[in-house]
Amino acid sequence: MSERRIDRFPLGARVRLADLTVDPYPIFAELREAEPVTWVPEIGRWFLTRRDDVLAVLRDPHLFTTDAPSTIRDMFGAHMMTTEGPTQIRYKRKCLPPFHASRLETASLPPLTAEVERMAEALQSGGQRAGEVRTGLARPVALHSVLSVLGIPLSETGRVNEWYEHFARSLANFAGDPDVRRTGKGAADAFGRALEPILEELEREPDGSLLSDLVCDHVDPLTAEEIRSNALIILFGGIETTESMIANAVWALLSHPEQCTPARSSETSLDLAIEETLRWEPAVQSAARHATRDTEIRGVRISKGEVVHCMLGAANRDPAHFHDPDRFDATRRNAGDHLSFAVGRHFCLGAPLARLETRIVLETLWSRCPGLRLDPDRPGAPHGYEFRKPKTLWVRWVG
Ligand code: HEM
Repeated sequence: MSERRIDRFPLGARVRLADLTVDPYPIFAELREAEPVTWVPEIGRWFLTRRDDVLAVLRDPHLFTTDAPSTIRDMFGAHMMTTEGPTQIRYKRKCLPPFHASRLETASLPPLTAEVERMAEALQSGGQRAGEVRTGLARPVALHSVLSVLGIPLSETGRVNEWYEHFARSLANFAGDPDVRRTGKGAADAFGRALEPILEELEREPDGSLLSDLVCDHVDPLTAEEIRSNALIILFGGIETTESMIANAVWALLSHPEQCTPARSSETSLDLAIEETLRWEPAVQSAARHATRDTEIRGVRISKGEVVHCMLGAANRDPAHFHDPDRFDATRRNAGDHLSFAVGRHFCLGAPLARLETRIVLETLWSRCPGLRLDPDRPGAPHGYEFRKPKTLWVRWVG
């Protein structure tokens, strides 16, 4: 079977994750044009690169589901991302309120702004007008924000970082190393144990955080196990993704210095510019779905159980929807039509928070660091196959 597929999908057969890691966009362009539904033998999965196809798959949870065995379910248990139907809707509905933009603006904006200012101050170490934005700002902002919204004390940051490293290794454990899996599951269990006293405290003294809402909920409440699994996916979903989104946004805008002034001209312009950074260099490159039965996409037969990767970065540069799609244009009117947070039932829960964090970081950097620019002596650009971000992002400023 895979022999025939190699002949039928010659471009897919040539796709190498190592090449996607460096620069996926020319490869996506070729696939989108000539083999929009293709089989990639290196990972034994389908790739979709046209926006219409990606939309159709993500909007059809009956035919293309997340409710199937996966490492993320093995690691965290059943949560909103690996369930469908009423169970998923129940989980998501319970977790949504603290992520509403209006609640974030009132509850999270003032403390987060103060915290980002403090972090931006610390960026400039040793009196030098230079700093590394990804680990120095993007990562701590992402961690601080998601912990605060969840209601996990910031004193847990060190342990959360440790657990996170184990999860990340387990999720990339494609070779199925049992030790890596054991360590990842051990970290998820340790998180569960650490959560118990936090939940007890929040039940005694509710603080308006998500965990506090969940533990004080008495109408069809989530069980302790359901709270743990959903808290894990929110925590895991909110760290590396947002760190990458912030770093990619800073990088994209500073790589186009002529576009920074228009982007800064109003809050609306900045929000639009952030959408364009999301379109042009999305932190998360694909959303995977399992076919629930034999089906066809563009006349290509997909068998029940096979995995289809909706390539979000490819959909975002589909010329059928975006004019001159490879061009970064901070004023692009339809930039917000990107699929970087996916679409449908599994649309990203944290999108409003991630957008808010990115806006605060950009505003803070621009106001505190006059003449902000990329450091020409220490260049870094996004790379990665599943998550894209720069390894380091050095900037300089004056004054
Ligand atoms: C505060 C930050 C974030 C949190 C708490 C968060 C959390 C989540 C959660 C819980 C889901 C599952 C939703 C569901 O299944 O119903 C999700 C989905 C998703 N998130 Fe986020 N996320 C964050 C930031 C981001 C960022 C910055 C990106 C990329 C730019 C991103 C991309 C996605 C995508 C593509 C999905 C859909 C995955 C799929 O359908 O297979 N997320 N997110």
